[in-house]
Amino acid sequence: MTTIETSELAGALGVEIKGLDVSRPLDESEVGALKTAFSEHKVLVIRNQDLTPESLFAFSKLWGDPYYFPHMTGLAEQPEVFEIHTTPHAERVFGNRWHSDQMYVPNPVKVTMLYAKELPPVGGDTIFSNTESAYDGLSDGMKSMLSRVRIHCDSADRSRYGGKSREEWYAASGMDEKLNQDEAQLIAVHPLIRTHPETGRKCIFIGDQAQRLDGMSDVESQPLIDYLMTYIQRPEFTCRVHWEPDSLVLWDNRCTCHYAVADYAGHTRRMHRVTIAGDAPF
Ligand code: SIN
Repeated sequence: MTTIETSELAGALGVEIKGLDVSRPLDESEVGALKTAFSEHKVLVIRNQDLTPESLFAFSKLWGDPYYFPHMTGLAEQPEVFEIHTTPHAERVFGNRWHSDQMYVPNPVKVTMLYAKELPPVGGDTIFSNTESAYDGLSDGMKSMLSRVRIHCDSADRSRYGGKSREEWYAASGMDEKLNQDEAQLIAVHPLIRTHPETGRKCIFIGDQAQRLDGMSDVESQPLIDYLMTYIQRPEFTCRVHWEPDSLVLWDNRCTCHYAVADYAGHTRRMHRVTIAGDAPF
């Protein structure tokens, strides 16, 4: 098995990979080493990559089948690749909330990969939380209670958009032209304590798309959701990825949450994203 040079980003999760060019076909042992690092660290930062939409998509196929983001359309030349583009005039930043990608579908995304095309002079980092460590830190009583709870997730929940519709929110983000207008409201119900299908480890499966606890009212649900959302953000569970031009970052969406930092008003940030189809959480 190839050993790749790694350097950990934080105690909780995240590792930087050095000296690997993923634009070329990787051999079996390189893929094995990457997947081992991914399983151990959950967030991989691979610097200095020269990736076209086509080669990014080719690399993504090592991780599974593409998942098409239901609310937005991909690039014309490579529909599996979706562009996140914050313009200098945008009032909002895509992903600027603690979330796990697409919790509102029955089989949420397994892996997300993001490639930096254009970055602001400073800012625009992404913060990740290890929701397995967060689960491990709960008391036995809390773990036992949460094991019976399911969460109701809704793609059209207006409370996520300050009372606005998705269309209005994206318009303020300067991303409305890419909205897929045909897509209906999506709803899914998942276990709040999720088991990783490969490692068997448990995590808190939470994010801003969790609208309420299944079978409970909004007011009954909110205090527990608020507690868990705040809890998973504890610095001890997190790492912060500082983007450099041509960085590629992959994360395990099944056991992490992430947050795109909106601290670069007046500047452009343009990223290419591919998501990989996942399984039904259990
Ligand atoms: C996302 O939430 O998928 C995007 C994160 C980022 O742009 O940093």
